[in-house]
Amino acid sequence: MHLTRITYCSEIVDNIGSEELSDILDVSRRNNDKNAVTGVLLFNSDFFLQCLEGSRAAVNSVYCRICCDKRHHNVQIMTYDEVSRRLFSGWGMAYLPWTETTRKIISQYSIGAEFNPYQMSAQSAMELLNQLGQLLQKDQE
Ligand SMILES: Cc1cc2nc3c(=O)[nH]c(=O)nc-3n(C[C@H](O)[C@H](O)[C@H](O)COP(=O)(O)O)c2cc1C
Repeated sequence: MHLTRITYCSEIVDNIGSEELSDILDVSRRNNDKNAVTGVLLFNSDFFLQCLEGSRAAVNSVYCRICCDKRHHNVQIMTYDEVSRRLFSGWGMAYLPWTETTRKIISQYSIGAEFNPYQMSAQSAMELLNQLGQLLQKDQE
């Protein structure tokens, strides 16, 4: 298997509510578990940053579905790589709430005061995801 990781950011459409966000997480977990896809979804009221990892076929297939989703727009790929290990193994789709710890980590990689993945370099996005992956692993131990 060619273990593949994609990271993209997008803008949330205006009229989306917390119920829809929680639906996205539920559907993601259900589908991703079936397809051995793992990852994390970060969002504030304006933006998504998502990392998806799995077989090349599975990652491409879910990414194509996500691109057509009307709940966001301006989808931009930040990274696409073949990788040797997963950062989010064990998480069909991890979600990290805005705690003091996550805020601190995210602010290290953000240019402005608010989370805006469009302003991040691909390298910053990867470093951020690495740190969040480590935080999740630690919480699980
Ligand atoms: C920001 C965002 C992230 C999403 N992430 C995933 C995902 O990781 N996996 C997934 O299956 N669907 C994801 N979705 C939902 C898909 O766009 C699509 O609605 C869903 O895959 C359809 O699944 P269904 O055919 O089982 O209803 C995401 C949608 C958005 C807007």
